[in-house]
Amino acid sequence: MTSNQVGAAPGDAGPDGRMRLSLAIRGVGYHPAAWRLPGTDPAAEQRLQHYAEVARIAERGKFDMIFFADTVAIRESALEPDTLARNSTLARIEPLMILAGVASQTSRIGLAATASTTYNTPYQIARHFGSLDLISNGRACWNLVTSWSDAEARNFGLDVNASYGDRYDRAREFVGVVTRLWNSWEDDAFLFDKQGGLFHDPAKLHTLDHEGRYYKVKGPLNVPPSPQGRPVICEAGASEAGQELAAYSADVVYAIAQTEEAAGRFYRSVKARLPKYGRSASDVKIMPGISPIVGKTEAEARAKFRALQDLIDPRLGLSLIAPYVGDLSGYPVDSPIPDVAMQGSTLETMRKLMKEIAAGRELTIRALYEHVAAGRGHWTLVGSAEYIADQLEAWFRAGVADGFNIVAAHLPGVIEDFVELVVPILQERGLFRRDYEGETLRENLGLRKPVGLVAG
Ligand SMILES: Cc1cc2nc3c(=O)[nH]c(=O)nc-3n(C[C@H](O)[C@H](O)[C@H](O)COP(=O)(O)O)c2cc1C
Repeated sequence: MTSNQVGAAPGDAGPDGRMRLSLAIRGVGYHPAAWRLPGTDPAAEQRLQHYAEVARIAERGKFDMIFFADTVAIRESALEPDTLARNSTLARIEPLMILAGVASQTSRIGLAATASTTYNTPYQIARHFGSLDLISNGRACWNLVTSWSDAEARNFGLDVNASYGDRYDRAREFVGVVTRLWNSWEDDAFLFDKQGGLFHDPAKLHTLDHEGRYYKVKGPLNVPPSPQGRPVICEAGASEAGQELAAYSADVVYAIAQTEEAAGRFYRSVKARLPKYGRSASDVKIMPGISPIVGKTEAEARAKFRALQDLIDPRLGLSLIAPYVGDLSGYPVDSPIPDVAMQGSTLETMRKLMKEIAAGRELTIRALYEHVAAGRGHWTLVGSAEYIADQLEAWFRAGVADGFNIVAAHLPGVIEDFVELVVPILQERGLFRRDYEGETLRENLGLRKPVGLVAG
């Protein structure tokens, strides 16, 4: 095996033709008004038990994994205090800590968390995720991000974030080092030979001696080998550099797509890059995000969605769209978006998107922020369980998704509804598992056990 292959042992591929499901968890939900819903305890997001309960529901529904996004700053800190004070998502528990707790209260579901390659070192990341992998019996997943905000830079002795190219170059070397650190110990390195007094086999411990452009790491890693070959690596980069890094090193790719066509374009673009790295299409699972609001009937789903949308504080709503349209606080929220706001390329994309959604209706400021709030950029699906299952099936059968990342608007409500109402339909249609196929996350995702190295 050459040094630039991510590589996998032939012949031990997991099950296929099955949809994979991930649950994205943020506090009591991604929707900015989730915490204000009657019946929601906003303080739950500060308690481990909340996350353990949500994870157990997802595990009951045989989800592949739960996922926590993360940042190392309050990115919104430029907002004025009165607006900032209405945002429920600023303070959070560091996700690896949550996952370590959740690991002990679940047994099969995968445990994914974000960690930045710009604001960590490879040894730390290899150690943290390697340890989570052991205490969870092979269920750890690292979501590799390069971090895009200056707010993060300012917490690490810098004024602005590193340039785009620099971040991605660094990330590539970083992931290579992490992967090789995870290969420090061969699977059967630990002998525990009481008789002979030999704890491990010295021939099965490998030093790294890495010296690259950004990192100098001697190794080996002081964490025993992973039960799943190595922790699963997840990425969500959308740009050329992001897709290239994913093709090189990711097992799972989270995507954002509002239409089947856009999902297909991204899917094909990532998969087409794999052969260059000695990888095949089944080595990477691509999961677009969806934000489902499920009801027993369409009317019930619409009522639930409206209840959430009506709770968005307009000041908060305006701050959500300010990055795209500027400050519109001088206009009534139910007036059309002023022309002055609709300029520039990001806005053009946004306007096109909003036109599709509004389908001929005049778009108001409120409608725009409600749209942004609903899915946080992800495809929002509001309807009966059959309707939502139909949409997922259509994308899956069209070959534009290997599975989906369920970006839960509110928790535990969305995952309860999804597991109770949508999962049985997907199972009935033979699209989704009735039970876990394997013990580790890698097995359940149908990924082959890696035997090679990513280049350093
Ligand atoms: C589902 C999803 C989750 C993401 N999670 C995080 C995160 O936790 N932290 C972060 O800094 N960026 C996160 N991102 C941003 C991506 O890592 C990436 O920067 C972004 O999609 C833009 O792609 P690019 O870096 O290739 O331009 C996420 C993106 C998506 C689609």
